Amino acid sequence: MCGIFGYVGRSSETLTDAAGVVLQGLKKLEYRGYDSWGIAVADNGCVALQKHVGKIGEAITRLPTSEIGLGHTRWATHGGVTEPNAHPHLDCTERLALIHNGIVSNYRELRDALHSSHRFRSETDTEVVAHLLEDCLARTPAGPDRLVTAVMAAFRQLDGLNAIAVLDVSTGQLAAAKSGSPLVLGWGEEGNFLASDYSALLEHTRRVTFVEDRQATLIGPDTIRLFDADSGAEISPAVTEVEWEAAATELSGYPDFMTKEIHEQPAVLRRLAAGWHGEAQRLAAMVREARDVFAVGCGTASHAAIAAQYLLARIARRQVTFATGSEFSYLGDFVTDGSLVLAFSQSGETIDVIDSVRAARQRGARVAALVNVEGSTLWRLADSAVPIGAGPERCVLATKSFTAKIAILLMAAHELIGRLDTGAALVRCAADEIERLLGDERRDVIRQIAERIHRREHLFVIGRGPSYPLALEAALKIKEVSYVHAEGFAGGELKHGVIALIEPGTPALVLAPRDETYDDVMSGAMQLKARGAMIIGISPEPHEAFDAFIPVADLGSAAAIVNAVPAQLLGYYLALLRGHDPDKPRNLAKSVTVK
Ligand code: AGP
Repeated sequence: MCGIFGYVGRSSETLTDAAGVVLQGLKKLEYRGYDSWGIAVADNGCVALQKHVGKIGEAITRLPTSEIGLGHTRWATHGGVTEPNAHPHLDCTERLALIHNGIVSNYRELRDALHSSHRFRSETDTEVVAHLLEDCLARTPAGPDRLVTAVMAAFRQLDGLNAIAVLDVSTGQLAAAKSGSPLVLGWGEEGNFLASDYSALLEHTRRVTFVEDRQATLIGPDTIRLFDADSGAEISPAVTEVEWEAAATELSGYPDFMTKEIHEQPAVLRRLAAGWHGEAQRLAAMVREARDVFAVGCGTASHAAIAAQYLLARIARRQVTFATGSEFSYLGDFVTDGSLVLAFSQSGETIDVIDSVRAARQRGARVAALVNVEGSTLWRLADSAVPIGAGPERCVLATKSFTAKIAILLMAAHELIGRLDTGAALVRCAADEIERLLGDERRDVIRQIAERIHRREHLFVIGRGPSYPLALEAALKIKEVSYVHAEGFAGGELKHGVIALIEPGTPALVLAPRDETYDDVMSGAMQLKARGAMIIGISPEPHEAFDAFIPVADLGSAAAIVNAVPAQLLGYYLALLRGHDPDKPRNLAKSVTVK
């Protein structure tokens, strides 16, 4: 949560509009939080500061030209959404401008100790660090490493998962330190960078250094130095060339990233069907060797983890125990050195998944992580990192990263029964069907359904077996983007309480692939209809129960991929009809790095 970005330009070079560079970087990071934003640059030994509540949008900077600056886009944790609480925060001397991603869990004690000698301007945990650093700096002897030494001294006093970065305008230096929250450094032609993730650096460089926990850095126009924040010892930075291209993070003519990423699914799936055999075989081999298998994830990734349970059970006769990331630690006692943990995460930075994986590894388990962001914390933590291959996903809602995970699971499950080609063929069929669905009259059918129901505040989604995690995912997509209270259920659960919520006209999405769940899920649909629900069927064939029908091809187990898309589109159209931003839903952020 929160996006941090910093830049130090080479004065001899062209790119000396640090504020402009930082603003562009923040725009690429805004999916990490968009409650407020702010930028600070050095201006003749002073801090020039600009802070705003709300999204960046088309805003421009009104800051002076400078070679060095940093900025922040906020997902509020401590202190309301106000301009004083927006980052960067200054110390009393106004020499230091500090930004932060994470939560300083001992901020109250630190603030109480500082209160008598410092003037606080905000309610945030972050500002405490600025004043703490001010004191550390005052106690640090002069010298070229004075700032980074003081940053390490202050950082050692912080509890919690944090990444901090500070601009010192009196020396024109940028320093940072991190533990838990992600931090990446960029080695550029015109200057050097820091950012919460490298998608914001791609227009400048693909040469990056992933900062490990408890490390600090001092960034100069020509140098990037790395230190162990506990011992102060200098470390030689490892430089990685990342795959993604800057163009892949652009809208490319689409109205928003949700539409773009929904439309990228056929190409992503074809790429997986053609080029991920090795990955599927590697994943299958780890499952085959494991005494028992656990699957963990959060949000949409948890639905992929539940889907792993059904697909591996039904196709490969392998049992998988699912736990959502924030609950794993309560169920992890059964993880042993013979266990395999399948960890699912688009960003690779979701703290509840990272902690689950750390706990499992301490118990000797092996970890296979299905991650979209290569080089992320989870990617580096896993014994075996399996790239999801979906490309940059900037919409807060996960769409293509979900269907890509299901596709890889489908291929791995078929590999386990020696039929990888069948699995790959199913993924190709799913790609073709999704391409047809996105291009034919069914899109209008889904738009018209959205027009019929967009004033309803409640909606239910039912599915059985492998369609149950799809029902959960469909409901999450609709909730996240349209703010309609949608609930996904195992079809058989209705009669045990939920059906009490059905009123005349209540929309109910019914996932009814032509598999062993069809008859039972359709009798559930008839029971809903008997109470006046408006039944929206997603199925290969029409049924008298359907008040609205979205036909999908009969693709067997690939229905677990295809049937995700109509709900993505329904959520999208409901959001537009209800006047919401599909890319940046309220109160959300793309990667959840705090507990
Ligand atoms: C999905 O649309 C949401 N953005 C959210 O539920 C997300 O799936 C969850 O936070 C997990 O994120 P991850 O895949 O990056 O770990």
